Amino acid sequence: MGDPLTARGGMDDGIREACERYVADLFAPEDEVLVELRRAMGEAGLPQIYISAEEGKLLQVLLRAIGARHVLELGTLGGYSAIWIGRALPPDGRLVTIEKRADRAELAREFINRAGLTDRVKVMVGEAGSLLEGLSAEAPFDAVFIDADKEGYPAYLEWSAEHVRQGGLIIADNALKGGRVVERDSENPAVLGIQEFNRRVAQDSRFTSIIVPTRDGVAIALVN
Ligand code: DHB
Ligand code: MG
Repeated sequence: MGDPLTARGGMDDGIREACERYVADLFAPEDEVLVELRRAMGEAGLPQIYISAEEGKLLQVLLRAIGARHVLELGTLGGYSAIWIGRALPPDGRLVTIEKRADRAELAREFINRAGLTDRVKVMVGEAGSLLEGLSAEAPFDAVFIDADKEGYPAYLEWSAEHVRQGGLIIADNALKGGRVVERDSENPAVLGIQEFNRRVAQDSRFTSIIVPTRDGVAIALVN
């Protein structure tokens, strides 16, 4: 009978990894700014939790598909995803990205500037939970990309559902939480946050939604 995954058209881990590399090389090559930023984030001791280049390209495809001009990102880290998002926007488009740590926001600003995106991308320092209330004034957004603290995901989803236009997108990183979403009785707040987020994304009739298993899972909810 063989491996059930293989029988259903799956593949073993080695081949999967090679295919991920194949897709990244073919569809999502990095320019010097992105390569340098990854190096700078490593030197600054930032955790290696930025999105993959394939995920960056997936964001670009999705944002271009809906003609996004006004996007909000929760969780800047060093600005790697912000550069992918910023490059998907038209010249007069706008990305607001929120980072809780000032040193990381500063690194992000430096590389956003190097990418020539300073006019398009604004980095705000603070906790997403505190800044969102003020950002209501900038709504509606065409899309929100959620990649901040995992405990906050359910609240970020609710805010986004109220502030993203019809036909817009709510996208979230780490929807599979390193595989831990399948745990049944987890007491880990991050796992619980993602599980609750996924249940709501899947079951709320305001959305047409799915998780794409790219890297750590990208949840995509189209606002009906
Ligand atoms: C973690 C956070 C992320 O956004 C990510 O992509 C990977 C890991 C974390 O907090 O562990
Ligand atoms: Mg993430």
